[in-house]
Amino acid sequence: MAENLLKAEGIYKSFVGVQALKNVTFEIKPGEIHCLAGENGSGKSTLIKIISGVYAPDSGSMEFAGKKYEKITPIEAIKSGIQVIYQDFSVFPNLTVMENLAFNSELADRRKFVNWKRMRKIATEAIAKIDFKVDLDALVGSLTVAEKQMIAISRALMFNTKLIIMDEPTTALTKKEVGNLFNIILKLKERGIAILFVSHKLNEVFEISDFFTILRSGELVASGNTADLDAKKFSYFMTGREFTAKRFEAKNISSEPILETKNIGIEGSFQDVSFDLHKGEIIGITGLLDSGRTELALSLFGILPIDTGSFKINGKQVKITNPQTAVAHKIGYLPEDRLSEGLFLNQSIADNIIISEIDRLTVFAGVLDTKKRTDEIARWVKELSIATPNPENACQTLSGGNQQRIVLAKWLALNLDILVLNGPTVGVDIGSKHDIHEILQNLANEGLALIIISDDLPEVLENCSRILVMKAGRVVSDLDAAKADEQMILSYMM
Ligand SMILES: Nc1ncnc2c1ncn2[C@@H]1O[C@H](COP(=O)(O)OP(=O)(O)O)[C@@H](O)[C@H]1O
Ligand SMILES: [Mg+2]
Repeated sequence: MAENLLKAEGIYKSFVGVQALKNVTFEIKPGEIHCLAGENGSGKSTLIKIISGVYAPDSGSMEFAGKKYEKITPIEAIKSGIQVIYQDFSVFPNLTVMENLAFNSELADRRKFVNWKRMRKIATEAIAKIDFKVDLDALVGSLTVAEKQMIAISRALMFNTKLIIMDEPTTALTKKEVGNLFNIILKLKERGIAILFVSHKLNEVFEISDFFTILRSGELVASGNTADLDAKKFSYFMTGREFTAKRFEAKNISSEPILETKNIGIEGSFQDVSFDLHKGEIIGITGLLDSGRTELALSLFGILPIDTGSFKINGKQVKITNPQTAVAHKIGYLPEDRLSEGLFLNQSIADNIIISEIDRLTVFAGVLDTKKRTDEIARWVKELSIATPNPENACQTLSGGNQQRIVLAKWLALNLDILVLNGPTVGVDIGSKHDIHEILQNLANEGLALIIISDDLPEVLENCSRILVMKAGRVVSDLDAAKADEQMILSYMM
């Protein structure tokens, strides 16, 4: 067995009023891909800042490449081969790719004049290490998130790097970009570089890591071989709660459909989609990214109006040509990207909740009834258990799961009949995910009609009464969720 590259032992760290780490021990070997997991606030970033010398621990010790440290300084960390890629990548947007890559080494050599030719050579070599193709003269600010990340990785490899730490590197990436990042991580592993990968996403931990460590409230709860981990243990370690996934049982399905779609379609996106949705029902729509599922979701809310077929609501033919007409027919929509479409992050939690019912809360001439406003906010914070000390705090102070509850509250305040949810738990903590599922099931049993668009198969299987599988713009199967399983859905999807 190879020697440890790093061992951090018995680490304690407190901030004013918070014990961020309590007796945490962490080990990693050369060439190992190790996931550090834990819910928001569990201490992951604090631990990596201690390993990389940004914070000194209150007590504990570290050993890196055979050398002992009570605390390591940032310079010592870099010299001994530790590189951290932070969530913001610490790149300079106003400088070119070449400058971002080469300035450090130019500065480190204390050269008086910048040698552009040398810089170009250094930069070219740096990106070649990960086969990254990019215009060296482009401004980094003009690159995509994934490209900025590649720059940060290339830069990290310019040193004698033994350990690369990535703090939640997939947060802002598309699925394809995540795949690309994982390929690079595997190549780094082949070269003997250890990767400490911080994540709270179950599928990523299973896909990429050899070993895992899970923190909860600053304590080490489990660590070991990823092969010995399963989804149930993972949720338990992360949250300390046992979840018995409760399959949705529709208790209250209306006899008449609330929504009927007949042969609806949008040229080039999807065709010939017909289904009935009843109150009390949850329909799942799944399929690959290019299956037309997202366009279908958007058409139900009028963001992408249909160009063939028709809608009926309560048996009457209607046109849904924009979100206003959808809302007028009591249809609500939770977007996939709640951060840019669903919420005003800088505004208070309270304002985000009541924004859609402003009309109802306004007494006259635009004056808001403050008592009604306060009551309404208190009602939703309680109803959806939104974890906040004060609803006047900005929305961005909340975790993903709580932000998603706000988007829900915003719509529910309108007394809808139909709610379309696109990826309702993407990027949400496991605990919140279970809570949101429970809320959705209860809403259906209270008489709301729901449509969940999701590629998370356990999510649609557990929470829906029926599942429509889409492929190449068509519904290829309409399944009774109680009789379906993942294999069956996959075989229709592919
Ligand atoms: N610089 C700091 N000052 C005060 N409290 C902090 C600081 N950094 C982190 N914390 C607190 O320590 C705990 C762990 O935070 P963090 O390590 O960032 O968690 P994670 O990365 O797992 O989300 C949280 O309660 C957080 O609020
Ligand atoms: Mg963090």
